[in-house]
Formats: sequence, C-alpha cells, structure tokens
Amino acid sequence: MRKLNSYFFSTLYALFGHNVLSKTNAVSLKKFFCISSVGAEGSLQQTASHQGVRSVQIPFKLDFGSNEHKCFTSMADVQKAWMYKEYGNFQQVLKLEQIDVPEIKPHEVLVKVHAAGLNPFDFKRGYGVIKSFDSPLPHVPGFDVAGVVVKVGSQVSKFKKGDEVYGDINGDIVEGQARQYGTLAQYTAVEEKLLALKPKNLSFVEAASLPLAILTAQEGLDRADLQEGQSLLVTGGAGGVGSLVIQLAKEVYGALVVAATASTKKLEFLKSIGADVAIDYTKENYDELPDKYDVVYDSIGDYPKSVKAVRDGGKVIEIAVFEVEPPAFSFRLVAKGENLEKLTPYIESGKVKPILDPKAPYKFSDVLEAFAYLETGRATGKVVIALIE
Ligand SMILES: NC(=O)c1ccc[n+]([C@@H]2O[C@H](COP(=O)([O-])OP(=O)(O)OC[C@H]3O[C@@H](n4cnc5c(N)ncnc54)[C@H](OP(=O)(O)O)[C@@H]3O)[C@@H](O)[C@H]2O)c1
Repeated sequence: MRKLNSYFFSTLYALFGHNVLSKTNAVSLKKFFCISSVGAEGSLQQTASHQGVRSVQIPFKLDFGSNEHKCFTSMADVQKAWMYKEYGNFQQVLKLEQIDVPEIKPHEVLVKVHAAGLNPFDFKRGYGVIKSFDSPLPHVPGFDVAGVVVKVGSQVSKFKKGDEVYGDINGDIVEGQARQYGTLAQYTAVEEKLLALKPKNLSFVEAASLPLAILTAQEGLDRADLQEGQSLLVTGGAGGVGSLVIQLAKEVYGALVVAATASTKKLEFLKSIGADVAIDYTKENYDELPDKYDVVYDSIGDYPKSVKAVRDGGKVIEIAVFEVEPPAFSFRLVAKGENLEKLTPYIESGKVKPILDPKAPYKFSDVLEAFAYLETGRATGKVVIALIE
C-alpha cells in the first residue's frame, strides 16, 4: 500500500504540479475507481490539496510492472459552503468552509447551485428563533435555490439529471424539516416534492429570487381566500414578499384595488408593479385613513395596527408576528413544488415578474455583505447570490 501511495502522489504531482497541490484549501479526491488488469479491486482514499477542482475526471495510469491500474474520480465530494457552528450574528458566526457534498436520500436530488436567494428568515434562524425545533448545528443557511439536477435518488420520479429546477428546500420547519445544509453552497440536496422546473423565461438568478417569497405570498392569499373584485392592502409592499403579494393579488387572484405602503422613494416602484394606491408611511398612517380593505397582508409585523385597516368581516394576514387574534391570523410557510408549478403560467407569460434589488446579484464571496444589507430591512424586492462556483 505504501508503494501504491507513493505512485498515487507522484501521479498527482505530474498532473497538477507542486504549486497546485500545496494550496491550503483541500479538495478530497477520495472517490477513485481503480481497475486493474490483474483483477485487483478497491479504491484509494487520499486527500490532495487543490483549490478550485470541483468535478474531476482524470484517467491516469499507475504502472506496477505488469499490473495496470486505471483510476477515475466521479465528482469532487468536498465543496465550498457558508456555515455557522453557533447561533449569533452572521457577521460574526458565518464562515466560508470546505464541507462534504451532501449524500442524497431516495426521494432527493442533488442540485448544483447556480443561484441562491436570501431571506430575512435565514438570519433570524441564525439568531436562534427556531432553536427549539431546528435541526442540529452546524447549519449552511439558504432556503431558495435555482440550479441543475446532477444526481437523482432511487425513488425520484419527477426529475432527471440535467433538469433546471428551483425551489425552497425546506418543507414544514415547524415539523423539524428545516435542513441542516442549505443552499449557500455549491451543491444542495433537496426532496423532489419541494422543487419545480425553472420557468423557461427566467435566469437562474431571477428564479432563485422567487420560491420562499412567492410561496408565502400565495399561501397567505389562499388562506385569506382573496376573491376576484376584492380590495387588499399590503404593508411592506416594496419588500421581497410584499412586491409579490401586489403582483399575485392583481394578476392571479383578480383583486380590484391593491394598496401598498412604502417610504417616499419607493412609491413609484409600487405603482410600477401594479399597486393602484401607494401610501407613504413616512407621511401617513395607513390605519387612520378612511379606506378599509377586504384583506390586509401585513408583511412587516405591524400588528395590531394592521387590524384597523380591515373592513368588518375581512381578514388580516400576519407573517412576521405569530401571537395574533382574529380577524388576524398568522402562518409559517410550508413550501411545495406543486404550488410553484401553479404559478408557472403567470411567470412564463410575464404577468408575474421576479423583482431583484438593484444591488443584486451579490457574488458568492460577498454573502456577508449581502446579509448585512438584507438586515437593514431596506431591500427592494429580493437579494440573490449568484455564480456559486
Ligand atoms: N411566516 C412566514 O412563513 C414568512 C415567510 C416569509 C417572510 N416572513 C417574514 O416576513 C417579513 C418580510 O419579509 P421580506 O422578505 O419581504 O423582507 P424584506 O424584503 O427584507 O423587506 C424589506 C422591505 O420592507 C419595507 N419596510 C420596512 N419597514 C416598513 C414599514 N414600516 N412600512 C412599510 N414598509 C416597510 C422596506 O421598505 P422601505 O425601505 O420603504 O421602508 C423594504 O422594501 C420578514 O420579517 C420575514 O421574516 C415570514
């Protein structure tokens, strides 16, 4: 075995050169398949230092006299990922690490991440808000993904290798389904029922901006039973969820009047995405205005003020606070790929559009900067991380 090791390393040196192999960021090359002309079986378990090699397919020959060994690697099994090992502020606890590419279960697919959307819930979870029912640390944050399927589990029926998909990779988080390893990584494992085919007209960045926010908008409006011809007020209309509530209310549910709140500079933006009434919250208290609405979608946690804006018999959706009483109700999203599929025709026809914050996309190396911006609460539309390489 010692002789084999020494041949193994000399071959790697011949292939990559000393400089590459001596880099500190390790890529494990442990999945080698070796075929021997004398029928010897086995695989080499070695770690070589080579930054940047993600998918290696290197046939090479080890000559032991008359015995010939040909060895191949399939896919690197170590990847770059943002990870925190303790709860706290991401600026302190979130670090770029080298971790194993996740194994997939029978109903899961492995997705090569092309873009990942950020959500306030990423850093809230990082602070420990669902600690009592969260998966164990460490965590790779990230709910939203758009990418390409590179591996499918034995029970997967909906997707095949090469499919371009998107989705929110966490199912029912209250039921403990918040995943340990999220989408701020080169690869992520996802249950197939959480994914949908990426709408054809969207880039990966645009697709990654949608899942969690659009599913939250949709689930809230479904639960409130918003009907064609009704009126709706959205607080936080320029945010990730709010900007999609406005569009879905008008284009999917057929609301007659949609009003939304934002600060002065964002009023034109609200109108541009379909709001009929744009209320400047720095100048007016929406709850003191004479107009009352069939449904109020409060995305900023402005309860109980939000209840003052609903008409008698109407409903108030709360997504940022959870201790509320009727007519308000709150919920935590349970993401489903089939619900994304219901929205595909509206997205592919251009009726519902992804809204990217002007600063987006951020580079994978700039995840901390992106979270610092998101945490200001001033983002317009969605903050997305792109080109995860
Ligand atoms: N329950 C669930 O399942 C669920 C799902 C998704 C999200 N959420 C929660 O919902 C909240 C919103 O999420 P998000 O992704 O939409 O956040 P976001 O994108 O960070 O929201 C930012 C927007 O909020 C606006 N805003 C802040 N304060 C405002 C105010 N007083 N009045 C009107 N607009 C205001 C900002 O506009 P200005 O700059 O003009 O102030 C900004 O455009 C978060 O707390 C998130 O955790 C819950």
